[in-house]
Amino acid sequence: APLALWGGRFASGPAAALADLSRSTQFDWRLADVDISGSVAHAHVLHAAGLLSDDEVAGMVDALERLRADVASGAFGPSPDDEDVHTALERGLIERAGADLGGKLRAGRSRNDQIATLVRMYLRREARTIAGLVLDVVDALTAQATAAGDAPMPGRTHLQHAQPVLLAHSLLAHAWPLLRDVERYVDWDKRAAVSPYGSGALAGSSLGLDPAAVAAELGFDAPVENSIDGTASRDVVAEFAFVSAMLAVDLSRLAEEVILWATKEFGFVRLHDSFSTGSSIMPQKKNPDIAELARGKAGRLVGDLTGLLTTLKGLPLAYNRDLQEDKEPVFDQVDQLTVLLPAFAGMVATLTFDTDRLASLAPQGFSLATDIAEWLVREGVPFRVAHEVAGECVRACEAHEPTIELWELTDDELAAISPHLTPAVRDVLSVEGSLASRSAHGGTAPVRVAEQLTRAQARAAEL
Ligand code: ARG
Repeated sequence: APLALWGGRFASGPAAALADLSRSTQFDWRLADVDISGSVAHAHVLHAAGLLSDDEVAGMVDALERLRADVASGAFGPSPDDEDVHTALERGLIERAGADLGGKLRAGRSRNDQIATLVRMYLRREARTIAGLVLDVVDALTAQATAAGDAPMPGRTHLQHAQPVLLAHSLLAHAWPLLRDVERYVDWDKRAAVSPYGSGALAGSSLGLDPAAVAAELGFDAPVENSIDGTASRDVVAEFAFVSAMLAVDLSRLAEEVILWATKEFGFVRLHDSFSTGSSIMPQKKNPDIAELARGKAGRLVGDLTGLLTTLKGLPLAYNRDLQEDKEPVFDQVDQLTVLLPAFAGMVATLTFDTDRLASLAPQGFSLATDIAEWLVREGVPFRVAHEVAGECVRACEAHEPTIELWELTDDELAAISPHLTPAVRDVLSVEGSLASRSAHGGTAPVRVAEQLTRAQARAAEL
């Protein structure tokens, strides 16, 4: 009969259909290493409480470390009869330490406090890795911003030409949200750094085991304050899922711009051959698959978050088996981000912008109309009137057949629209003049963008 952890009360083993439903080793085996670390810490507190002798704790830790090595090498793995990672590792321990010694480890702990702790350990480790990969994307963006220098581009709202901006400013507009995503992982870690170990099944441990000692050994700041909360809550997992979904959404918005910018119609950017794909039928095709996969995976990561929150909704305290469903969503997020981010960073790092085209498009579509209005305000004209006058300039351009741009209006045409429109207005009817005028903190003036770039790089270096 399969070695269940709870056999004594049962006259028969689990039905095969139940075992198939119940089994979680296909996804929780990735927790084996942190599970063994938890077991080593647990052996130490059993020893401190006088429940393992000096020899026993030495033998136990030695067997656990041999088991860890066998897991790492693949010599030991889960069998179909193991319900979960904990069951499999207990079998592995007993095979190495013998049933008498191996059977002592489970005292004073439950799989409920174990799993709640191990998920936190695993996610804290992965969050650090993911944050590092996000910073690689930020580095690629700041490197592109550096290379772009003072190159202008058309800035858009509603996808329509709005005002000229620096290409570097647009690129950094994607770097800041990614920096905040990294900050969110860092901030999340404070809440994840609390250990449920010692909560037992739900009510805490009666054997004199010290939860603070286990917490410290496993790299946590403190043990949980409430053993029911420790075993029943998954908000820490859900918050990780939110931060990861937000990150994916932020990547997706940059991805969408890359996809648009790489079209024939936009023609803003070329993708490097090694970070784009071809078509099996159309020889000319060069497709932005990395950006599209990023956009697609964002939907998937949002789904992971949604599924997890929906699982938690309405669950009574304390542990319920539904909570086993907390792991696959976040494991999926980790797996997707871990393959996506390096490809994404490579794609961004190797983009080639057509800065001549961007410069020639920057003032088109009447994107300097706001500059006329603001020039009039500086001349003492109320903004309401100035807005009207600038709008009439646009209308006058559109009355031409074919349409002309604002700077092509003659002095006479300008004067006919408003006596305030003297030829001096031409100072702001250039991309350079427009950009330089937006010099308040956070604006697109080249001096401000240079400072911003320095600050973005400094922030990335701090994280
Ligand atoms: N495999 C379970 C989980 O992932 C942990 C085991 C708790 N099971 C139980 N019957 N108390 O949540």
